[in-house]
Amino acid sequence: MFNRRKMLLWGAASAVLGGLCAGVPARADDAVKIGLILPMTGGQASTGKQIDNAIKLYMQQNGDTVAGKKIEIILKDDAAMPDNTKRLAQELIVNDKVNFIAGFGVTPAALAAAPLATQAKIPEVVMAAGTSIITERSPYIVRTSFTLAQSSTIIGDWAVKNGIKKVATLTSDYAPGNDALTFFKQHFTAGGGEIVEEVKVPLANPDFAPFLQRMKDSKPDAMFVFVPAGQGGNFMKQYAERGLDKSGIKVIGPGDVMDDDLLNNMGDAALGAVTAHLYSAAHPSQVNKDFVAAYKKAFGNRPGFMAVSGYDGIHLIYEALKKTNGATDGDKLIEAMKGMKWESPRGPISIDPETRDIVQNIYIRKVEKVDGELYNVEFATFEAVKDSGKTKK
Ligand code: PHB
Repeated sequence: MFNRRKMLLWGAASAVLGGLCAGVPARADDAVKIGLILPMTGGQASTGKQIDNAIKLYMQQNGDTVAGKKIEIILKDDAAMPDNTKRLAQELIVNDKVNFIAGFGVTPAALAAAPLATQAKIPEVVMAAGTSIITERSPYIVRTSFTLAQSSTIIGDWAVKNGIKKVATLTSDYAPGNDALTFFKQHFTAGGGEIVEEVKVPLANPDFAPFLQRMKDSKPDAMFVFVPAGQGGNFMKQYAERGLDKSGIKVIGPGDVMDDDLLNNMGDAALGAVTAHLYSAAHPSQVNKDFVAAYKKAFGNRPGFMAVSGYDGIHLIYEALKKTNGATDGDKLIEAMKGMKWESPRGPISIDPETRDIVQNIYIRKVEKVDGELYNVEFATFEAVKDSGKTKK
């Protein structure tokens, strides 16, 4: 009885206090809010899943409080549709008063949010999208993923030096596919290589079969492939069904098509594929071994490059907040992020203080069977590669 009365009184008091406080915004320093916008459904859902998992893992390992502030993640699914991204970013900024927006599974999504980050003066941490121009679209954008220029230039040079003379290209028909194609072609043809066929496939639900027949007919030494994370499994299935593996046309490209997330289910058709990329689950460092083991234990499968980009993205946010002592002023956070360096599961990385883009090693890898599983085994390293694809320097 007494308890019930106390509860009623407490309820009444809270209602009065609530009434008094109505219209007064919550104290800005209560918590740090991160609006995480990812494709959790649709064709790019594997990217969203990997990044969401990796952030959960990081927060399990490092706690959910930084510089005395509680970190609150608000996850929204944009299904990789830029109109959704824009609406969700707006709601997160205006209604939830987030201190960061983060995620962005595809380039159009990252670009759609850029003007909002600028207007709100809050950091936009890009954890997936890979077109070079993205970081130029707002001084509040910082990227922990990669650019297609970083890997495509390197595989272009490698192809020339390794006796590949004729290449057919198959790229996804949107901004990062165009970056991959442009930078590969520049390097491959400058070294004397010839492009014998060029096809672009739609981003949504691509049927590769008719394009693969054209590739086969053009009799190249290798085919250069860019499809975004999540599509490699379907691509390799159709590649094998059309017998391209039997006709000796090897797959080369940036590593997106050989994402560790899907690689192990691609079968022997993937053996021998050579790609240049930022991350392999087989990267032989202790930091990576620990990361792969913890990720597998928590989620039952291997992390791919999107998982690592998300893991590093949340690390960057934590470290920036430590540097500002928990202050959430967007300009201070961006300053704190510039030039930051750390050892990621992918190897040593840093944030270029001039472009706010990631600087990282790019590895050349070949798909091999190790203990009965398929892995991208790294065999050459290009250190501290910057993005070379910006329009202004
Ligand atoms: C992009 O849309 O920028 C993108 C998405 C997935 C990738 C690479 C680039 O694997």
